[in-house]
Amino acid sequence: MSLETTRPAWGTRMGFIFAAAGSAVGLGNIWKFPYITGENGGGLFVLIYLGCVVLVGLPIMISEVMIGNRSQQSPVGAFQFFRRGGSPWGIVGWFGVLAGFVLLSYYSIVAGWSLNYVYLALSNSFHGLGAGAISGIFDELYLSGARNILWHTLFMCIVVVIVVGGVRKGIEKTCNLLMPLLFLIVFGIMIYSIFLPNHGFLKALDFIFYPHVEKLTHRGVLEALGHSFFTLSLGMGAMITYGSYLSERKEILHSSFFISILDTVVALMACMMIYPVVFAFGYDAEAGPGLVFKTLPLVFSQLPGGYLLSVLFFLLLAFAALSSAISLQEVVTSTVIDRLNWNRRKATLITASVIFIFGVPSALAGSGGLFSGWADIFGMNFFDSMDFLASNWMLPLSGLFVAIFVGWAISDSQRRDAFGAELHAKWKYDAFNMLVRYVTPAMVFLVFMHKIGFLKLIGLV
Ligand code: PHE
Repeated sequence: MSLETTRPAWGTRMGFIFAAAGSAVGLGNIWKFPYITGENGGGLFVLIYLGCVVLVGLPIMISEVMIGNRSQQSPVGAFQFFRRGGSPWGIVGWFGVLAGFVLLSYYSIVAGWSLNYVYLALSNSFHGLGAGAISGIFDELYLSGARNILWHTLFMCIVVVIVVGGVRKGIEKTCNLLMPLLFLIVFGIMIYSIFLPNHGFLKALDFIFYPHVEKLTHRGVLEALGHSFFTLSLGMGAMITYGSYLSERKEILHSSFFISILDTVVALMACMMIYPVVFAFGYDAEAGPGLVFKTLPLVFSQLPGGYLLSVLFFLLLAFAALSSAISLQEVVTSTVIDRLNWNRRKATLITASVIFIFGVPSALAGSGGLFSGWADIFGMNFFDSMDFLASNWMLPLSGLFVAIFVGWAISDSQRRDAFGAELHAKWKYDAFNMLVRYVTPAMVFLVFMHKIGFLKLIGLV
């Protein structure tokens, strides 16, 4: 018998928003978005990304929250709720859970790096070092299987403690604390960046917002589209699960809107805090994935107040990763509670242990070791393979299914009812209906075709 006899619920509407925004705001915003913006020449890429958030991200976010809310169930049960009688749509729910499982296994490794960097920043390890030495710190970490496993273990333990604490006392309480802190830190560092020398802030604004048309490629457009649902935590059942703890139907539309805006604002602010620092010292905007772990510590080490800045920055990264990771674990935990009737503690401990073990080959990816043969067979190491699998395959596919499900598989009256159409102005439902039935699936389908190389095959890109 499950200990959770009644379904848990958020304590307040703000609690839901902070938890869902906590899921959305993650490494995707602070680590990935700035460097893909850099690689794609800023400007137009950012504008297209904003368009994708509105046309793809928002409709899928609303869809996920509404099917979770209406069914009051975790992903598998949520899909089945609308189509009773052995509906195969439950498989889509399982697919999302599996995607969350795979994603958390390697997300925890990058999150572990950020924990390690909090420690390094606290112990003032970057002070007085040159570019080579600071890059070396990251390379050494990446290559050390033992250190990766240590931080992976620590991070997963923190996730487990919070999720075992429950929806209200664990997740909501943590996010209520972390999210305001996170906003404060991003905002604080951004303000600091305004006063940097060499017009760093202005150069950054120009880089981020001025549309340099010539720098945009087809790949960039599709990357913007793909990133828009990674960053909003879509296609993994996270918003379905969090939506199922929401009791008010009226909140779905405005909350989804607000969460998407918060996520986007943090991503843009992350660029506005990172790029001024980079430009003020004439570093390369196209530093790629190493931007946060290699370039930033170097620049921080040369700035007044650099010690505090680097501690705050890596804390921010760790907080962002943590509030996202707990949502991934919660998807798996709540599915097991709902399907197998286990209690929360058992469900979390067992599934997190399996995820932890599944993450070990990713932790060892840099050091080769046991899994060095993997790269010979698949052309990339285990970590990159999992990222490729989750981000390029599972996410777009699951996102596409969510849009098709809400747009086509359920009836119009079910859609109206779950959306709460009668609670809003008519045009809002009409706009949603149009997007979720036509625009969103078409665009996601396009990303998917691109990801599997089909567009290249037929010579379109
Ligand atoms: N949105 C998170 C980020 O930007 C990643 C994530 C995806 C978290 C899916 C939960 C579910 O880093």
